[in-house]
Amino acid sequence: MQEFDPHVLDEKPIPPPADFAKKARIGSMEEYEEMYAAAAADPQAFWAEEAKNIDWFEQPTKVLDWKVPHAKWFVGGKLNVSHNCLDRHLEKNENKPALLWEAEDGATLQLTYAELHERVCQFANVLLSLGVKPTDCVAIYMPMIPELPIAMLACARVGAVHSIVFGGFSAVALADRIADAKSKILITADGGFRRGKVVALKDTADAALEKCPTIQKSIVVKRTGEKVAWKDGRDLWWHELVEKSPKDCPAPAFDSEHPLFILYTSGTTGKPKGVLHTSAGYLLQTQWSTRLVFDLRDDDVYWCTADIGWVTGHSYMVYGPLANAASIVMYEGAPDFPRKDRFWDIIERYKVSIFYSSATAVRAFMAWGMEWIDPHDLSSLRLLGTVGEPINPAAWKWYSEAIGKGKCPIVDTWWQTETGSIMISPLPGATPTKPGCATKPLPGVAARVVTMQGESVKPGETGYLILERPWPSMLRTIYGDDERFQRDYWSRIPGVYFTGDAAQIDKDGYIWVLGRVDDVIKVAGHRLSSMEIESALVSHPAVAEAAVVARPDDIKGEAIVTFVILRSGHKPSKELRAALSDHIATTIGTIARPAEIHFADLLPKTRSGKIMRRLLREVAQKGAISGDTTTLEDLSVIDRLAKAKGIDEE
Ligand code: WTA
Repeated sequence: MQEFDPHVLDEKPIPPPADFAKKARIGSMEEYEEMYAAAAADPQAFWAEEAKNIDWFEQPTKVLDWKVPHAKWFVGGKLNVSHNCLDRHLEKNENKPALLWEAEDGATLQLTYAELHERVCQFANVLLSLGVKPTDCVAIYMPMIPELPIAMLACARVGAVHSIVFGGFSAVALADRIADAKSKILITADGGFRRGKVVALKDTADAALEKCPTIQKSIVVKRTGEKVAWKDGRDLWWHELVEKSPKDCPAPAFDSEHPLFILYTSGTTGKPKGVLHTSAGYLLQTQWSTRLVFDLRDDDVYWCTADIGWVTGHSYMVYGPLANAASIVMYEGAPDFPRKDRFWDIIERYKVSIFYSSATAVRAFMAWGMEWIDPHDLSSLRLLGTVGEPINPAAWKWYSEAIGKGKCPIVDTWWQTETGSIMISPLPGATPTKPGCATKPLPGVAARVVTMQGESVKPGETGYLILERPWPSMLRTIYGDDERFQRDYWSRIPGVYFTGDAAQIDKDGYIWVLGRVDDVIKVAGHRLSSMEIESALVSHPAVAEAAVVARPDDIKGEAIVTFVILRSGHKPSKELRAALSDHIATTIGTIARPAEIHFADLLPKTRSGKIMRRLLREVAQKGAISGDTTTLEDLSVIDRLAKAKGIDEE
């Protein structure tokens, strides 16, 4: 969790740029407050009104069926999410660019709404021809290429549930997720490009499929053209399937609560949880929040830089913007390839007006310097956003000046894989902002900062961030584990949704999110769990015990620090450290590589044998321990650990 600087509580709010506010959808705090109050007074009426912006095949008969923790939104309604993102736009926006894709090597592909619709229909027919049925699960393991959103929308069209696994995850991680969701089809590519190098995605996927008996077919997009292994009968080329596939595919009506996707995310145990989102509520709230938070207009060029493998890519690259008929930019590669000005170059060439990125990216741009930015014309930008982790006030201010040139509002958006859509954020034309603060809950969102007893904390006190009412885009359950869903989110403080974040509320009622209170780590905005990394480590033959904590990192927000006790017969060495890091990369993915691996001879434990991560965090952050150690079993461990950073190797 971030160290909190109480001085920020005295920050003077910065009013939205006057020009922006004048034209904004919501142009004043009075309007926001009115809307907030209306939603709070009658949430169901509020969402029912908003639901008119969905193209229903059958109208819902009831807004909400709520029995903690299970919600059914828009009961009786029927819709098709793919139809809502494509078909309904064809009348007015047939020739409007939907997808503006740029490859890392500079090649481009632009698809209008009519063209995207056609490709989605063709691929939906492919899925049908392979026998995919509604509620079947389709795993997707792909680079950032147009076939990825096409695959998602095709799944949605035929009622299949997609489970996208970020391309940086390992074969083991992919296999676990395929097994948990019992996916029948895998969609992947022969490879991808990252910083000019080929990422051999199919090799990894093939390794995963060795352990995945549920997978019947693996559909492979030809992206790199590199030679790949081929399993006849299982592997099928995307382009060959699509070539033969009809371009017409009706969008059937599915129930409001029809499952749309599963997205695995890290929690507090070693096993990732499959967060399940369903159709109408998710679509409605991502569509609504995209319009409101980004003040989206017909002529905007919208760019969310997130990888689709994470929830931000699902909600704010694909579903939210497409449901609004927006023109979206999608970039395949790294921000520093071939040079550190790639993003500014893209913004200039595509005339991007809305730019939504991560706090980590902002800190990296800041470190790279103005020499990459100054030569570019960024005057098309009118709004900036950040997501995924707290943004420190210095980075916020830099973003506003260096990129926004003082004229773009910044929306610091707080939300989670579980919430499906943005919960806390400024409204760009209304909310006075405070650098580093996500400000206020959106209308319809009942956020509070409370003690473990559920009582509101006073301004300046730290408490737990909770959400009090169900909301349309909330997760419906953890796939296959209702009990964990209930326990993790709805039982900590009975009857309310426990976010897992610590927060403070200031004298103006602004919410400052400080970071996680559990063992979830955020490295460059990527969500990982201490326990997952610990189990990866102890699965290595040299490791007897391991503990993993985070320490602050100037660019990535947090960095992973591990303490390892070796089995007898193994000695600390540079080679072993490298081997352990590689082992984590092959068990979870390269994103989980630790910044530091320390060899220790003992870990701090309570008398009941629980590892005291709090103390390890102190060692990782400060090299010493000053906190309460009364429950520690063996006091000498502290000294030895503090020294561990020095005794690592002989
Ligand atoms: C953190 C990402 C501070 C928070 C959309 C949350 C943030 C976790 C912010 C969810 C923000 C996200 N300010 N912290 N604006 N946005 N977080 O599931 O700890 O990858 O609980 O969803 O990211 O991460 P997830």
